[in-house]
Amino acid sequence: MEALLQKIETYRREIEAFPSNENDAAEQFRIAYLGTKGLVKSLMGEMKQVPAERKKEFGQVLNEFKQFAEAKHEALKAAGAQHAVSTTATIDLSLPGDVIPVGSRHPISMMRHRIIAIFQRLGFSVAEGPEIEDDWHNFTALNLPEYHPARDMQDTFYISTDPAWLLRTHTSNIQIREMEKGILPLRIICPGRVYRNETISARSHCFFHQVEGLYIDENVSFADLKQTLYYFVQEMYGNDVKVRFRPSYFPFTEPSAEMDISCQLCKGEGCNVCKHTGWLEILGCGMVHPKVLQNCNIDPEKYSGFAFGMGVERPALLKYGINDIRLFSENDVRFLKQFTGLV
Ligand code: PHE
Repeated sequence: MEALLQKIETYRREIEAFPSNENDAAEQFRIAYLGTKGLVKSLMGEMKQVPAERKKEFGQVLNEFKQFAEAKHEALKAAGAQHAVSTTATIDLSLPGDVIPVGSRHPISMMRHRIIAIFQRLGFSVAEGPEIEDDWHNFTALNLPEYHPARDMQDTFYISTDPAWLLRTHTSNIQIREMEKGILPLRIICPGRVYRNETISARSHCFFHQVEGLYIDENVSFADLKQTLYYFVQEMYGNDVKVRFRPSYFPFTEPSAEMDISCQLCKGEGCNVCKHTGWLEILGCGMVHPKVLQNCNIDPEKYSGFAFGMGVERPALLKYGINDIRLFSENDVRFLKQFTGLV
C-alpha cells in the first residue's frame, strides 16, 4: 500500500511536468492517463491488492489523483486552443497572395501569327496540309526532277521508299493540294512545320517552320509579286526597310528570285548578323512554273500566279535577339517564360 501511494505521488509530479508545447498535447495526455488503457484505469485495477481496512483511504487518494489528472487535461486542452488562436492571429491577411504562373506564347507561334496576320489583311486565307507526304505532292507535282538533290536520302527523311512516304521538306505540298481542288482564283498562306536531314547546330535544325504563299488568278504578274512582298516587309519591319531581289532558281517557279531586306540591326552599315553585307536574305519567290499549273489541271494559258516561301525561325531569332535555334525546341521553361505577356 505504501509503495502504491509512493507511485501515485511520482505520477502526480510527472503530470505536473507534462509538456504542453506539442500540438496534440491534450490528446496525448488523455491517452496516457485517462484513456481505457491509461494510468488511472490501471491504478484502479490495483484496488484489489489493497487490504480491506485501507480501501476507503486508497479510494480517496485515487479519486483525487483522477480529478487532478482531469484538471490537467482540461488545462492542456485550453492551452491547445489558445495556441491555435495565436497561430491564426499571426497570419497577415493583407499580404498579397502567391503569384499564379501564367503561360506564354511560343516565340515561333508569335512570329508565325505576325506573318499570317499581314497577309490576311491582303485577302490571303490560311491553308494547312499533312506533314507526312507522298512523293507527288512534295516533289513531282512541283516539277522537281528525279535527279534533284533535295530528293536524296541525305536531305529528306523518308518513311518508306516504295511507295515513297516522307516528312515534307517544305509547305509547298499544301499549295499543290489546294490547286488540285480546282477552285480559282486562289490566294492562300501555308504555315507549317517542315523537315530536312540537316545536322543540328545553333544555326540549323532538322525541323523548322515555314510560311509559304500562293496567288493564282488571271493576269497575275511579277509586279504583283513584288508589291505584295514589299507591303509585307514594310508591315513587318517598318517603312524605312529597303528590299532587293536577286535572280535565283527553284524548279517550281520561273522566273525565280530571292528577296533580301536591309539589315535591321545595323541599318545596312554591315555587322556580324548580315556578314557585313548590309542585307539579310528572307525569302524565296517566283512566278509559278507552267508545268506546275498543268500538273494541277490549271490552264497556264489562262492563269498565272506567284508563290513565295520563308522560314519563321530566322525572323524570330532577329526579332527577339536569340542566338541559338535549338532553344526553340528544347522547351526550357526559363527560356519560354521570358515571352510571357507578349503576343
Ligand atoms: N519551297 C521553297 C523552299 O522550301 C520556297 C519557295 C516557295 C520558293 C515558293 C519559291 C516559291 O525553300
